Amino acid sequence: MLILEKGRVLDPSRGFDEEADVVIEGGRISEVGRGAGARHPKNEAVRRIDASGRWVVPGFIDLHVHLREPGQEYKEDIASGLRAAAAGGYVAVCPMPNTRPVNDNRAITEQMRARAKDVGGPRLHPFGAITVGSKGETLTEMADMRDAGAIGVSDDGVCVMNAAVMRRALEYAKTFDLLVSQHCEDHHLTAGAQMHEGHVSTSLGLRGWPREGEDVIVARDVILNERIGARYHVAHISTLGAARIVREAKARGLSVTAEVTPHHLLLTDRELIGYRTFCKVTPPLREDEDVEAMRQALRDGTIDCIATDHAPHSSLEKDCELSAASPGMIGLETTIPLLLGLVRDGVLSPLRFVEVMSTAPARVGRLPGGSLRVGEPADLTVLDPTLRWTVSRETIRSKQLNSPWLGKELVGACTHTIVGGDVVFTR
Ligand code: DOR
Repeated sequence: MLILEKGRVLDPSRGFDEEADVVIEGGRISEVGRGAGARHPKNEAVRRIDASGRWVVPGFIDLHVHLREPGQEYKEDIASGLRAAAAGGYVAVCPMPNTRPVNDNRAITEQMRARAKDVGGPRLHPFGAITVGSKGETLTEMADMRDAGAIGVSDDGVCVMNAAVMRRALEYAKTFDLLVSQHCEDHHLTAGAQMHEGHVSTSLGLRGWPREGEDVIVARDVILNERIGARYHVAHISTLGAARIVREAKARGLSVTAEVTPHHLLLTDRELIGYRTFCKVTPPLREDEDVEAMRQALRDGTIDCIATDHAPHSSLEKDCELSAASPGMIGLETTIPLLLGLVRDGVLSPLRFVEVMSTAPARVGRLPGGSLRVGEPADLTVLDPTLRWTVSRETIRSKQLNSPWLGKELVGACTHTIVGGDVVFTR
């Protein structure tokens, strides 16, 4: 038995925000309430964690990470990625299939799941590819990958450009009830782009990716999916226009969900001044009006959840000129303090913050967790909203440090991550 005592318990699944104890037995939540812990004996069979001053919440779930295994273990691997996830308060992560080789078949999905089981810690729910090799041509055997544990399909890193292929993919995925996460980028509109297209790209002399490059794909997919009704999901949404299209589609009752990264809620293309490769990401950092639109859409439910797009790259891919740099930044270990900043600024309420980190991704991905109701799996995050720490090699578990927050002091951190009743991380 494990008892988390006297924390501020926030459970968006039932609008609960009170000081309470959480009692865990047999890997499940058995009681939540003020004084619940005191009714149990004080002996060695009962482990107690003093959570006073901390938040006790349903464990965080990330629908979009890159763990680079198989194939690019010098950047990250499943073991280091899961350690980073646990330290960031994540009880479950969903790795994208742009591994080497691409996870486009049962064998690789099985291998990733088996590796994660050996390593232990957070749960791993992979995405399989939509098309073989993510080349955009031939659909994968989605049912095979689903049977091996894939929760959805995506060609993340590239967009399924051919509308006929995408239409078939939506139909096929619908048959197997798989989430279809689209990397929305019209590659003709973004050819050669290094960053967002705007005043900053012009002044830096860099080719830009216009907002339309994202918007046209979101619009196209919403139209393609209208009569199919698959579980269509917009990965890393970043533009004002895409948010508007998703909002209108939802208002019409269409099947669409969306995720946004912490960096698209916080940073703009001005970060690229100085050619900072750590701020080169796909989709690119946009402008103030897009950041404001992302925040508004996250508040009003147009955007369902936060996903980090944790994208570790080594100095080989980042200590170079901007045009040669690979896009992406790490994110698993910095999301809690970054999002708590938005809570402190009044952008998100505490309950909405927990909802977009846990309850909503569980719903979108149809994953266990996201709630502290009695009987639910005991997947929890305990966080200290006041803990100060500095992003550095000493504090980060990921193999890589490609974060624009490197060297910065942040406020707030996970202190315990609990998966199925087991404490898998303690700070
Ligand atoms: O910034 C990104 N990095 N965006 C993507 O879509 C892919 C990712 C990666 O794999 O590095």
